[in-house]
Formats: sequence, structure tokens, C-alpha cells
Amino acid sequence: MNQPEKKILDEVATLRAELDDANYRYYVLDEPRMTDADYDRRLRRLQEIEAEYPDLVTPDSPTQRVGAPPDAGFPEVQHAVPMLSLDNALNEDEITAFVKRVADRLEIDGETIAFCCEPKLDGAAVSLVYEQGVLVSGATRGDGRTGEGITSNLRTLRSVPLKLRGKAPPDLLEVRGEVIMSHEGFEALNARAREGDAKVFANPRNAAAGSLRQLDPRITASRPLEFSAYQAARFEPDPGDATHSQLMARLADLGLRTSAALEVVTGSQGLIDYCRRLGERRDRLGYDIDGVVIKVDDLRLQRELGFVARAPRWAIAFKFPAQEETTTLNDVEFQVGRTGAITPVARLEPVTVAGVTVSNASLHNADEIARLGVMIGDTVTIRRAGDVIPQVVRVDASKRPSDAREIVFPERCPVCESEVERLEGEVVARCSGGLYCAAQRKEALKYFASRRAMDIDGLGEKLIDQLVELDWVKTPADLFRLKAEDLATLPRMAQKSSDNLVAALEKAKQTTLPRFIFALGIREVGEATAANLARHFGTLDALMEAEVADLEAVEDVGPVVASHVYTFFRQPHNRETIEELRSLGLTWKEEVVGDRPQPLAGQTWVLTGTLESMTRDEGKERLQALGAKVAGSVSKKTAAVVAGPGAGSKLAKAEQMGVSVLDEQGFLERLEAWESGKEAAQ
Ligand code: IVH
Repeated sequence: MNQPEKKILDEVATLRAELDDANYRYYVLDEPRMTDADYDRRLRRLQEIEAEYPDLVTPDSPTQRVGAPPDAGFPEVQHAVPMLSLDNALNEDEITAFVKRVADRLEIDGETIAFCCEPKLDGAAVSLVYEQGVLVSGATRGDGRTGEGITSNLRTLRSVPLKLRGKAPPDLLEVRGEVIMSHEGFEALNARAREGDAKVFANPRNAAAGSLRQLDPRITASRPLEFSAYQAARFEPDPGDATHSQLMARLADLGLRTSAALEVVTGSQGLIDYCRRLGERRDRLGYDIDGVVIKVDDLRLQRELGFVARAPRWAIAFKFPAQEETTTLNDVEFQVGRTGAITPVARLEPVTVAGVTVSNASLHNADEIARLGVMIGDTVTIRRAGDVIPQVVRVDASKRPSDAREIVFPERCPVCESEVERLEGEVVARCSGGLYCAAQRKEALKYFASRRAMDIDGLGEKLIDQLVELDWVKTPADLFRLKAEDLATLPRMAQKSSDNLVAALEKAKQTTLPRFIFALGIREVGEATAANLARHFGTLDALMEAEVADLEAVEDVGPVVASHVYTFFRQPHNRETIEELRSLGLTWKEEVVGDRPQPLAGQTWVLTGTLESMTRDEGKERLQALGAKVAGSVSKKTAAVVAGPGAGSKLAKAEQMGVSVLDEQGFLERLEAWESGKEAAQ
């Protein structure tokens, strides 16, 4: 057996401390210091050392999150203290009635009672047991008395400490909380599932519960789950805290995450205010909550109040409106996107879901329709959460009317009648019309002319619509054949604007290679990728001839992007268009690598929430094109945070740390100023 030197022992201790600390900062303090890459690097180094010196492995080592799968099923676990449920308050009057019941029983004035309020997280309840500070078991709620032992799965969550922080951990701690999946994690998981034919979950709660009940912990480890603590069921020796909120702060000190939205308020008005405020923020939290849990804060008063049947007298759950409702599917329409992707859109009988009227929902693709087994006329359940596009989550086939119609995926494009193709291994059906399809043509031309691409002044969206509808322009090359005298005959086009447009087209002919590549609108090739391709290949001809393997050698180009680029240049009509453009005088200095100034070089930005005018990926590409790095979490080094609707903890964090925050409008203004070179970064 290999004997480790002291140097190795020290390194192991340092790595473990650094990794534990990184988790604590990320999950509990919400102040990440370490990047994911650094975390992975340290974890790998620790794995290497432990592989060489197996005696050094301890069960609480950060490498020991994924263990061996259980042979069969999960063992039953008896809860030492039952996991209770809560009574509900369905409106503000019922909150007032709860306060009165508590006050009457305690014979004190209700308006003086302090209550601890927390979001009612909509996930799966679990219980964790720590002995001498080390996680020894974890279980589901089950029926409240007996749950399932899912220790190996819970160990894979980085927000579940394998070891509590601090020098003197309690002898015993049984902590309860909720395992949740954020909207972002849920969307990503379902998007992956839709592409890979895996199980699509109806909502984050099902996804969290389903992920915890995987027999193979490696699957659980791959799911974006988070644990948040809300109760200490057993704490020995008794830490002597007077209130629930103090106890929660103690759990946070021990390395457990608790709700950032926890607040202590007084009396029924305090409770009602909190519930209203949280209700307003509900859509922006980034995860599902179904209400507010209200607890009498004073632990002595809690003991005095005790329990009835299956619920405590000292707590109640105020319920928010449901995020799922049922309605009728009236029709399905098919939309054609810029890249030809054909998306089925459900036209619904309008229904109010959590305060918003919903009349359309995404059906994603043909596989999703098959999976749901949905027909036109069906009664369907719609889910709306945060800013996520409303989804059809299930069908009530028992309510199917006799005249229900099957949803037929079009074989021809609803816009141009070209054949619809579904490439092998792809879930998405696409119109094969390319630039011939007006739906794609308009979008492709708008993209081509846009400021970040060919930057053709005066060629706005309306004008492009007109030119395409008149059939004057089919391909980007046609733009450069436009004549001022023809343009001047268009409604609302004066001679001067026509002259200006032709001059702008003339000017745009002198461009740069990265801009030109970007302007082609190849799938998933944004500005940063276009710049990388230009830098790598130097000339358009070299890029056009590149094989998939050559493309994969380019920075940030993976197999998917490589295949899009390869396929694009193998299409004869794309090659023709490029040749025409060149013969019409489009040029660039081949050696120009990036004409763009990089005003954001050295800065790290964070994008959070949804943006309306672009996807987050586009925002990222645009920032990267300006030299910025785009990170997933806010730290002291963050230069700015762009927060769209739905921004949650990252926004709160930025505000708390005094990092500057831009809304979408402000972000766009800045981007445009920087991209046009009119402004240098401060
Ligand atoms: S306290 C004895 N706090 O709600 C009181 N429960 O009906 C124990 N839940 O399934 C519960 N967020 O998993 C409490 N901040 C929170 C909660 C919460 C969600 C769930 C819990 C249980 C249900 C209680």
C-alpha cells in the first residue's frame, strides 16, 4: 500500500476544506467565490489522490457524493418524529381567523404575536439525520410516519452538506426541508428529455420527486436539485434558541441552506402584507412556491399550542392560486420560425392561470403531441409558472368529445408549401424551403440586414416585409440589385430615402468576415462563434471547404454547431447566394479578424431572468463579442447583472452586493452604444 506523504495529506485537507467552503458559499450564503471550472478541477484532483491512496477516502469527502446504486428498492425508514402536514388558509380572512385562534388559545393579543413567514416551496419533503455532524441518513416524507431511505440520492445534492460546518457540531440533528428544482433547471431537464426521448416531467415538483426516487444515484446527481431547510425536528443537545427564526439562522451557520425570503412579522396585518408581497414576487423567484408557511416564531408558544391530529396549531399554509388549470384545446396552429423549425401552438379556450389569462400554449413538437396523446377538442391541463411559456401538461382523455380531431402534423410548410423534413435523430420538423420560404426569408433578411450583421441603414423590418411580399427580394443578393427609382415607387418611400437606402447598401458591401459569417444566419452561429470561425479559417473559402473535424477544432465549436456549419455550406442554394453576393461586390479584408473594439474585455457579466428582445444565449454572444466573460453566478468580481423578468436570487444577490443591475432596456441601450463603437465601457 502506498503511504501518502505529509504534503499529500495537507493537500487533501485543503482541497476538502475548499470544496466544502465553495458549496457553503454557493448554496447557503448565495455568494459564490469559486467558478464551476475551479470546483471541478479541485474535485478531480481530490479524486486522483484518493484513487492513488484509497485509505484516505472518508464517507464525508466531497468525492463521495455518488456511491453504489442500491440493489433493489429503497428501505423503509421510520421517522422518529412524524412529518406532519399543515392546515390551509385560502384567503386573508382565514389568516386573520388563524391569528385569532392562536391568540385566544394563548390568551394574548394576536397583534403582538411574532410569526415567521417562509415561502411554501413546491417540491418534495425530505428529512436528513446528522450524527456528530456527519450525514448518516436521508428519507422521503412518505406517509409522514414511514418514508423511503434515499440517503445515496440525497448525498448527491451539493446543497446537502455531507458534514456540518463548525467546530462543535450537535450530537444529533434531524433537519427537514424541501428538495426543489428551479424553473431554469426544470426547463433544461425537459428540453434535454424532449431531444433525447427521455421522460418529460409535468412540473418541477414531479421532476424533483421523480429524480429523488431513482435507483441509480448517478441519475439523481445529474438532475438540478436543491435542498432548502425549514425545520429542525431533533436537535441534541438542545441549542436553547428561543425562536424558530433563530433556529433557522443556526441551521445556516451549520452549512444548511434556508429560505432567503424568510421574515419575522407581527400580527395579522404583518402576515397579510408579507403574503401580498411574496405573491407579487412569485413569478420572479425562479422556482415554484404554492404559498406561504406561517409559523408562530416563539418556540415556547409553539410548545404551548401543540398539535391537533396531523397538523400543528402553531402553523398554517396560506395558499396561492394554482399554477395549473384545465381548459379546452380549440385548435392547433403551426408556426414557422426563422430557421424553418415548425412549432405546434395550442389555441386554447382562454383561462386564468395564477392571475394571468392564457390562450396559447406551446406543444413543442410532434413527439410531445404523441407523448401527451392530445387531440383537438380535448380537456387539457395548462401550467404557467414564472415567465415560462405556458405548457400543456396533460390530457383528460375521459372528457374527450366524440368529435375530437387528431392533430395532423403538416407534411408541407404552412407558409411556402415546401416539404417538411424531419432529420434522423432530430425531434424538430423543419420547412425545407430555406430562403424560398417567406417565413424564413423575411427573418433571414432581417437578420442579414441587422446592425450587428451587415448593418444596412434604413432597411427596417417593415420594408423587408414589403420587399418580400412584392417578390422583389428572395435572397440577400437581391437586396443589392434594388434600384432607387423602383424603391421610390413604394408607399411611404420618398426619393431621398430610396437614394439613402441604395447608398447604405453600397456602403454595406465593404464588410468584415466575422460580420458576413454571422449575417448568413447559420443555426447556432452567433457573433462570438462567427468571430472564432473567421479567426480560425482566415478566409471564407477555407471555412466553406472545412470538414466537420476541422470545424470541431475551432474554439467553442462542438459537434452540433460543426454539423450546422458543415450542412449550411453543403446546400447549393446557399453557395449560389454567397457567389452572387461576391459578384455583386461584397468584400472584406480576409485577414481582418475582429473589427470590433472590445470595450468589455476583462469584465464578467451575469444574465438572469428572461429577456424579451433576445434569448439569453444571444445576449451572451453579444457580450462575448464585446470582450466580456459571461458567468452563471454573481460575485464581487461581477461588473454588472442584466436582470429580466423572473430574475431571482442572482438579482437579490447583486443588489445586496452593490453590483450594478441593468434591466433589458438599459442593457439594449448599452449594447447598442458599445457595438456601434459610440461608447467605451466605464
Ligand atoms: S413546515 C410541522 N415550512 O409543506 C410543520 N413546510 O403541509 C412542518 N413545505 O410537505 C412543515 N415549504 O414539505 C414547512 N417553509 C416550509 C415549507 C413546508 C414547503 C411543505 C412540507 C410539507 C407541507 C406541509
